[in-house]
Order: sequence, then C-alpha cells, then structure tokens
Amino acid sequence: MSKIDILGFGLQKANKKISNFDLEKKVDTSDEWIVQRTGIQTRYISEDKNTSELGYLAAKQAIADAALQPHDIDAIIVATMTGDYITPSTACMIQKKLGINDKQIFAFDLNAACSGFMYALFVASELVDKFDHILVIGSEIISKIIDFNDRNTCVLFGDGAGAVVISKGKHEVYSYVNSEGNDDVLISHGLGLTTDYEHVNDQSHYLYMAGNDVFRFAIKVMQQAIEKVLEESGYTMDDIDMIIPHQANYRIISHVAKKMKTDMSKFFVDVNEFGNTSAASVAIAYSDAYQKGVITKDSRVIFVGFGAGLTYGALLVDGGKENVVE
Ligand code: COA
Repeated sequence: MSKIDILGFGLQKANKKISNFDLEKKVDTSDEWIVQRTGIQTRYISEDKNTSELGYLAAKQAIADAALQPHDIDAIIVATMTGDYITPSTACMIQKKLGINDKQIFAFDLNAACSGFMYALFVASELVDKFDHILVIGSEIISKIIDFNDRNTCVLFGDGAGAVVISKGKHEVYSYVNSEGNDDVLISHGLGLTTDYEHVNDQSHYLYMAGNDVFRFAIKVMQQAIEKVLEESGYTMDDIDMIIPHQANYRIISHVAKKMKTDMSKFFVDVNEFGNTSAASVAIAYSDAYQKGVITKDSRVIFVGFGAGLTYGALLVDGGKENVVE
C-alpha cells in the first residue's frame, strides 16, 4: 500500500471564456438546453497556448504552492490525449519549460482519456518510493479535436490544466482502476497508420460520442468504482470529506449521488464553469476545491473518473477528519 502527501496544487485556465450564448450563435442549441442537460454554463478555449504551456503554468503554481523549486522535481507525468506533438511527450516539453535539464528526471505522458489524471495519480502513487517529488499534471486542449459545427459535442468540452506535486507521505492510497477495451461509443481517430489520398478531407479526428451510452456507462462505473475503494479502505461515505468526480455533466454526478444516497454537497462540482476538460478535469477540480478552501492538503478525498477506452476507476487518498475546513 503506497502512502503519499499532496504538497502543492496548481490550476491554469485557457484564455477565452465561451458562454452557452456564444455557442447559440454557432450551432442550433440554446443556453436552456445545455444548462438543463449538462449543468454547463461556460468553458474556456485556448487560442494562445499549447497543451504544454497550460500544463507548465499549472505546474509552476503547484511547485510554488509546495514551497519547492523546479529543480526539486524528480518525475513528471502528464495525463493528456491532446499533447503538443505525437513525440516528444508533453511531459518533456514541460520539463524543458521548467528548465530542469541537469539531473535525472523520469518524464512521460499517459493517455487514459478523461480518466487520465486519476490514472496518472495512481501511477505516481506507486512511484513515490523511487522519486522524491513527482509532478502530476492533467493538461488538455480538447478543442483540437472538437468539431464546432457538431452540437452533440461542442457544447460539452473545454481546455485547461491542473497539477499537483506529490511525495511519499502519511496518506494511504486505495485504488481501483479498470478499462473495457471499447472503441464504439467514444473515439477520435486522429492520425491513421497510412495516408489515403482519397480521404484527404477526412474529419475523423473529431471526437465521436454516443452520448446516451456514455451517460449510462458513467453512472454505473462511477458508483462501482467508489464502492470498490470504500470497501478496500473500510470507510463509508460518511468518513469521506469530499468526492472529486470527473466533470463531464452535472446530471451524471447527481445521478451517482442519488443512487448512493449521498448529498450532492459531498461531490465537488465546477463543470458549470469549465465544461469537460477531459484528462485535466479531475486535476482542475482538485486544485479548484483546494483554492476555494473546500478541502485541505490533508482531506480524505475520493477521485472518480471515466473516459474513452472505456477507462474508469477511483482513488481514495486518506486524510484526517481533524484537518477538514469547516
Ligand atoms: N443543443 C440542443 N439539442 C441538442 C444538443 C445541443 N447542444 N445536443 C444534442 N441535442 C439534441 C439531440 O440531437 C436529440 O435530438 P433528437 O431527439 O431530435 O434526436 C435531443 O437533443 C436529445 O438528445 P439526448 O441524447 O437524448 O439528450 P441527453 O439528455 O442524453 O443529453 C448528453 C445528451 C450528451 C448531454 C448526455 O447524453 C451526456 O452527457 N452523455 C455523456 C457525455 C459524456 O460524458 N461524454 C464525455 C465522456 S468522458
């Protein structure tokens, strides 16, 4: 069982705030529809920064919040599916921006779609015996793969980055991570393996989503994953200070809360402001909750997420009731 401390938090918004009313001008939708079906009111789109730049700015804040210097970082894990390049990794680009080039660094990207930050935190928690300070970042410019003519997807997503620094510490981590090996209901083809001159205008890199299937899947597996980590830890919902769920849709989160007979106030929600920022979503929500004073670095929290793959899971990071902000 690994034990960690969360040392610092960071959050970087993308530059352009887009309201539902802005989207009304682009596609056949309405603020009323989006708010009722998703709870989303705004999202941020990055016009001036790439994925590594957003991640770097969040990372700088997390390092400062941890009272560390960039040089103290020993490993960098970036959860993303919209990195600057296919290669080198976004983690290496963030390392370059941080100017850490004269010591041993372990740096790589991890793609688990919207479960990305939760997966990355799980991997990092398994590495704390080997590396003193691990930077775990979720950074996404998902607008790169969004078709802004498709009302089924363009209203849901946004860009941004969140980051934490972790080390070996006193908080036990209980985890449940899973994947279904599914490419039917959520997919962005991206680059194919071959160039086909017949299909040069192919738009299959845009995200395709079977919304209802994903909705049902999300509710089922979020409950399942939360129950798994509660069971493993021996805690009940009453013992948990805050649940930080993947911010895809307010209705998904409230369905899970209802099914688990838990008050919505136990679930942190900022999807109304950010939309779904994919791998950055839980990272942003965690940092947002901390910056708003809803949790401390010592709160007992559960992260829970789901995404393309279909990946899903939960992580319970133990804390101490006495440290909770009332
Ligand atoms: N504005 C207006 N109407 C829209 C719309 C939009 N932005 N997007 C879809 N619609 C329409 C649909 O075309 C459909 O019209 P039709 O009945 O004439 O075909 C109608 O609204 C109802 O669609 P439906 O799919 O039943 O709505 P819903 O209540 O399931 O909500 C989602 C749709 C996408 C919000 C919901 O299914 C969802 O959140 N799914 C999960 C998505 C997700 O989490 N993805 C990320 C995974 S990491």
